[in-house]
Amino acid sequence: MGTQRNPNINEASQNHQTMKNLADYQILVTGGNGAIGCNLVRKLLDLSAKVTVLDDFSQGKKKNLATKKNLMIIRGDIASKKILSKVFSCHYDYVFHLAARFANELSVKDPLEDLRVNVQGTLQTLFHSAKNKVDRFLYTSSSSIYGPQNNNLCKENSIPHPSTPYAASKLSAEHYCHAISELYDLDYTIVRLSNSYGPYDPPGRYRNVIPNFFQAAIQKKDLVITGTGKETRDFTYVDDCVNGIILAATSKRAKNDTFNLGTGKETKMLNLAKLILQRTKSRSNIVFKPRRSFDHIKNRKMDISKAKKLLGYTPSTDLQTGLQSTYDWFVSRK
Ligand SMILES: NC(=O)c1ccc[n+]([C@@H]2O[C@H](COP(=O)([O-])OP(=O)(O)OC[C@H]3O[C@@H](n4cnc5c(N)ncnc54)[C@H](O)[C@@H]3O)[C@@H](O)[C@H]2O)c1
Repeated sequence: MGTQRNPNINEASQNHQTMKNLADYQILVTGGNGAIGCNLVRKLLDLSAKVTVLDDFSQGKKKNLATKKNLMIIRGDIASKKILSKVFSCHYDYVFHLAARFANELSVKDPLEDLRVNVQGTLQTLFHSAKNKVDRFLYTSSSSIYGPQNNNLCKENSIPHPSTPYAASKLSAEHYCHAISELYDLDYTIVRLSNSYGPYDPPGRYRNVIPNFFQAAIQKKDLVITGTGKETRDFTYVDDCVNGIILAATSKRAKNDTFNLGTGKETKMLNLAKLILQRTKSRSNIVFKPRRSFDHIKNRKMDISKAKKLLGYTPSTDLQTGLQSTYDWFVSRK
């Protein structure tokens, strides 16, 4: 369970110099066992914070975090008042709210469960955070809230067009952040993440394209692209996401504001598949299938100029390096 890191990962993505000193800060991370959450927790512990994780392990029974001093892991549902009362029995300086039911496909199958976890669960966590007088509530929203945009470029002030239940639930929870902040004077920051990838992101039916391509390539199965391969996404290495999340939560300039976190660069799905075949030296085929009913977004590019300017956010891991690090983790995991 040790952290797998490629030594080639750009130093800037790992240094702490621009980060606030979090020594002895009490931090709650919901969804802290997840793909982004466990990387965030490791970074917070590196920054000497005291971290409590609340996770129901619904996205994987396996613990992604080893037992550590300054880390407490509580298993439970964010939508349960009883669990939240227990978790919030001490004071937190920051709450990083990442727990969510993930994936557009799953949300199409069961939108009510999405609503329960992503909206009701967020609302309960907001209430408790306000009562707890936390310094900042950080909410991880998603680029999916933008839906189809005219020029594919997503800016924070673009009008959102959520086109799946997941996207609708993520946007709805953003609105609750504003509302609870107004009502109870809770400071919050929203980050809209684009497609994150890296160590601890497992493959699976409802999971992300990069681990699923790696799994298929390693197992000599077809890499299936739903579409023409010209579709694009902004793939962001998890360390860059984590740095952006911490900068946003701890920056005074980010109070009650919303930021895109991505790389600002688009990658075509076909290029991604080819890079993964090269990296794994796999002879798997790339096959094309029709787009799925919920694949409304052909191309997406994040405008990250606001986070760069106000937070000093600088994504620094290029796709080749990030994929190598992801592959190293993939082959080393048990
Ligand atoms: N990964 C991405 O590309 C991406 C992109 C945009 C936004 N996001 C957002 O970032 C956050 C983290 O994403 P991730 O990729 O780490 O997802 P993930 O699925 O790997 O992690 C989510 C974690 O939340 C936990 N969880 C789910 N339901 C819960 C519940 N009811 N109570 C407690 N815990 C619960 C899961 O067990 C899991 O560990 C999510 O809010 C997601 O919507 C992720």
